[in-house]
Amino acid sequence: MQIITIDGPASSGKGTVAKLIAKKLGFHYLESGAIYRVVALITIKEAIDSSDIDSILTLIDNMELRFIDGSVLVDNLDVTDGLRAEAVGMMASTVAKNDVIRKRLLDFQREFATEPGLVTDGRDMGSVVFPNAHLKIFLTASPTVRAKRRYEQLKHNINVSLDNILADIIARDKQDTERANAPLKYDSSFILIDNDNMTIDETVQCIISLLNSKHNI
Ligand code: CDP
Repeated sequence: MQIITIDGPASSGKGTVAKLIAKKLGFHYLESGAIYRVVALITIKEAIDSSDIDSILTLIDNMELRFIDGSVLVDNLDVTDGLRAEAVGMMASTVAKNDVIRKRLLDFQREFATEPGLVTDGRDMGSVVFPNAHLKIFLTASPTVRAKRRYEQLKHNINVSLDNILADIIARDKQDTERANAPLKYDSSFILIDNDNMTIDETVQCIISLLNSKHNI
């Protein structure tokens, strides 16, 4: 069974690209960030302090999380729309610093690796969750380009400014790369793609070509 991991910073396009590749190959898709976002959303809704790890672990143990046709369901409630807010992303990044929380979510993520294959995106998919994946991509782009992309995604539904988004992205990059546990980090086991000047389709094509060339080695 093949596993393709796509790790990278916020708004590098990894989710869109991973989903398209999974569709092309007929593989399963796991958006690991959505798991951290769900935990963050409930933490915020239930007014739990981000330092109250025991309460967060209890909520993880008691929630039933399902991904169905692009929607995220928690205890049968569709929470998809609430997940994309920047405040939820920031809280996800804060909660994700904790090693016990990360370990509690490991098995759930690994269960997605079933036939015929898996495409997954996040921060530690190639480093921690699936270190032996067939193809490990590190997808990045400059902060300004990523902020513009996130702004285009969010401007229709939420009152946001490009400056605020850029500041959030820079703060989240810092928190995600500097944390002690499973930081977002490039090493030579990854193939680095900077897609500043590439369209989504070009990025997908690039990864499919890399996959095909691996098959021919
Ligand atoms: O979509 P975007 O790249 O902005 O974020 P995301 O993938 O939804 O992830 C939200 C936050 O969850 C990140 O900033 C990370 O701190 C955390 N995360 C993580 O720690 N490990 C993962 N495998 C995925 C996300």
